[in-house]
Amino acid sequence: MIEPIPVGLTDWTQLQTPCFVFDEPELRANFSDFDQALKRAWSPLAHVAYSVKTNPFGWILDVAREQGCLAEVVSADEFALALEHGFTPDQVVFNGPVKPRDWLEYALANGAYVNLDSVRDIAWTCAWSREHPGQAHVGVRANIELERFIPGETITGERGGRFGFCYENGELARVIGQLREAGVDVCGLHMHVTTLSRSQRAYEVLAQHAVRIARENGLALRYVDMGGGYYGGGMRNDGAYERYAETMASVLRQAADPATCTLLTEPGGAVVCTPARFVGRVVDAKDTTVDRFVTCELSRVDIDHEMKKTSYPLHALTRDGTPKDPGSATGATTLPRQVLCGFTCMESDRLCVLRDWPELEVGDVLYIDFAGAYSMSFTPGFFIEHAPAVYRRGADGACTLLRGNGRPPAPKDTGSAHRRAGEQRREAPRDEPGLR
Ligand SMILES: Cc1ncc(COP(=O)(O)O)c(C=O)c1O
Repeated sequence: MIEPIPVGLTDWTQLQTPCFVFDEPELRANFSDFDQALKRAWSPLAHVAYSVKTNPFGWILDVAREQGCLAEVVSADEFALALEHGFTPDQVVFNGPVKPRDWLEYALANGAYVNLDSVRDIAWTCAWSREHPGQAHVGVRANIELERFIPGETITGERGGRFGFCYENGELARVIGQLREAGVDVCGLHMHVTTLSRSQRAYEVLAQHAVRIARENGLALRYVDMGGGYYGGGMRNDGAYERYAETMASVLRQAADPATCTLLTEPGGAVVCTPARFVGRVVDAKDTTVDRFVTCELSRVDIDHEMKKTSYPLHALTRDGTPKDPGSATGATTLPRQVLCGFTCMESDRLCVLRDWPELEVGDVLYIDFAGAYSMSFTPGFFIEHAPAVYRRGADGACTLLRGNGRPPAPKDTGSAHRRAGEQRREAPRDEPGLR
């Protein structure tokens, strides 16, 4: 964990907006802190496999690799991206129920961690193993009735999750048997579940099930992948990585030897959420009979893909950079209600209602903290505007542009407005071919 870079070190008004800004020292620290916590609690055979889908921006993959992490992928595109960014196949964890057959076979042949999660994964792996005897080493994703152990904490509730093979109805044991019959070495277990609570107890129950499944099926585990779903990162989550690592390691030791078995985690949000801010300017403010609507360059499509959030860790600055949060001394009038809206043409693109905030004006700069996870991965390359720009922010507060926002240059004046107004067409200068 490292000290946060003071907000005031950066002139936020100078940035190309909208943009995401990543505090690089914090991002690096999050990756290496989680990795070190795992190694301390387990052994050198412990790794963070960064969940690429959480934010597939190439520079983040570079940072993850440089900090000693593996990459966790769930698609051919992500796998190819990881290779492009310097991960070797044996540094990739290949998950998900929709692996294309060619990439599954590539992963099996090249030493990736492969966690099987669909009936076709099983069939294709068995077929590949029969053609390549003794070469297929895999993990299987387990589906367990987690809600029974932590009522109210799971996302799916009593209806249960859809991923992995069901432990309780015997399906998991059956596919392990089927794989073995085809000569596949089942040497890993994949236990990922994201919960609402992200509680230590959830990981304790998952680890207990890994132990039980290994014993009941006589698995000689060479890795246990405890998945993602943690919270962590930054000052406010100090100690979280350590607590998770100790909880999992203390249970898993009952069935796996830290000297020969690798412990994997696949954090996404817990490493990339806290280091990022989403920054944009206010572009309009107007009243109806009902509300004050403030339109800004931030949008729900960039920050709230599920359209569920009703509040954000939001801050405001005046156009010259003076803090303008509630209670700040800018002299701005306080308004009881302002509806903050995004730049798209969807009525639903209303980020939140600001109550008793200083009146926002065109040119004010807004930023949302903790914006690095499941934001850029859902931002389309073109939807009314191109995806936001991306900066990295160094320890001195200076920002370096990593990707521009792709906005087209200002249009050339073709004089058409004048023509519509019945004015005389001007003579086209020679260097404006569009006029002739
Ligand atoms: C298989 C798998 N691993 C890891 C993650 C990362 O989860 P989180 O961002 O909650 O850590 C996910 C997210 O859904 C996932 O499906």
